[in-house]
Amino acid sequence: MGESSDVETSEGYRAVCRVEDVPAQIALKVQLGERGVLICRDGDDIYAVDEICPHKNQSMQRAPLVDGEIICPHHRYRFDLETGSCNRRCAPVQTYDVQIRDGRVWVKM
Ligand code: FES
Repeated sequence: MGESSDVETSEGYRAVCRVEDVPAQIALKVQLGERGVLICRDGDDIYAVDEICPHKNQSMQRAPLVDGEIICPHHRYRFDLETGSCNRRCAPVQTYDVQIRDGRVWVKM
């Protein structure tokens, strides 16, 4: 990835990291403009969700990932990485479209 002053964008997507930099079991925080976004791996699939948990507006940075879900470290609510839906009575977490191109993760802004 380039320096922050060397942002690459294409068709509304921004390159945020290399695929190989996305860990297997923990969310990776990147910055997308003003917004913190968590890049999350589920096997070969990569998802992007908002950093902020909709339950109590806490950061889910470095949250664990299990079976296609991100588990908020604060109260253990679980959010589906694909749909953002929660396993409890809570609003869904914002999800973002992701593309993999040239070995990099691109997130729709
Ligand atoms: S702040 Fe995330 S589950 Fe409560």
